[in-house]
Amino acid sequence: MKKVFSGVQPTGNIHIGNYLGALKQFVELQEENDCVYCIVDLHSITLPQDPKILRKNILDVAALYIAIGLNPKKSTIFVQSMVSGHSELAWILLCSSYTGELSRMTQFKQKSRGNESAPTGLFAYPALMAADILLYDSNVVPVGNDQKQHIEITRDIAIRVNNKYGKTFVVPEGRFLKEGARIMSLDDPTVKMSKSAENIHSRISLLDDSGKIKKSIMKSTTDSEGEIRFDMENKPGISNLLNIYSSFSGLPVADIEKKYEGSGYGVFKKDLVEVTVESIIPIQLRYNEIRESEELIRILKEGAERATVISEKTMNRVKENFGLGI
Ligand code: AMP
Ligand code: TRP
Repeated sequence: MKKVFSGVQPTGNIHIGNYLGALKQFVELQEENDCVYCIVDLHSITLPQDPKILRKNILDVAALYIAIGLNPKKSTIFVQSMVSGHSELAWILLCSSYTGELSRMTQFKQKSRGNESAPTGLFAYPALMAADILLYDSNVVPVGNDQKQHIEITRDIAIRVNNKYGKTFVVPEGRFLKEGARIMSLDDPTVKMSKSAENIHSRISLLDDSGKIKKSIMKSTTDSEGEIRFDMENKPGISNLLNIYSSFSGLPVADIEKKYEGSGYGVFKKDLVEVTVESIIPIQLRYNEIRESEELIRILKEGAERATVISEKTMNRVKENFGLGI
């Protein structure tokens, strides 16, 4: 039994890229592992947030966690800011991180764009993420491909601390899905599907209704060749749709290519709408049941209590090894 940890930012518009790239693995992993899943609200304030919307988004993501099949009896589900060890350990890890390595992070470079008034939190982001992971002695961190660099720096920091202060942290490993690991934008398949893109038809959100899903898929960018064939380089649009089809249906891409040999894009897209809607509707039904319920609040409070117990053990070890306190 391995210890698994992952987190999702409560920034709204959770989409099928988040689901197929990350969340779906969370559910699979909980069957045979000791899993901790966090809603990382402290990460989301690295960029400006409206407090009311942030609170709403936290509960939305929590409800989605339950709706996709996370079971609070098997997994610990909680909100990051409700467990103080995250901020506390982040500071300690910042003191064992280098400004050079933090400034090389692609996400920091993209989001700060060399702007001197970029928040310091954006720069420190990877140390907070390392704290999330290391607090729970995590072995495995299921994430989308875009988080590879953050997992690497977490490992580097853990190894550095262990070398300097004696064995303090478990060195974690990332777990990346091959298919579905990177779902691309529907309107521009050369960039990844994102929560923040202006065009709502660039993504399919888990809470979209079937009309919207149909519109987004039917409008999606393909090519003029007309052949349903996986070729990421020359046919990124169709390849992305094949990837989505395969991830939702469980059919290998080769089987789908065979199934649609000689068919047009219209037929294929129509079927993809069906496959997608069929997968998403049960999630939405469960979401609607839980979103406004007392049960959701109870799950998050109990999750935070459980997480606090684990994290305090780690914090005691860290303080002991670093010589902090008395
Ligand atoms: P975020 O939206 O940045 O909080 O991401 C939540 C999780 O979804 C992370 O593990 C990301 O790596 C993953 N993710 C985000 N966008 C995509 C995408 N387009 N394709 C696959 N995974 C993604
Ligand atoms: N940085 C991650 C993202 O943007 C979210 C995250 C925060 C996370 N802490 C984490 C993911 C710890 C895995 C483990 O997707």
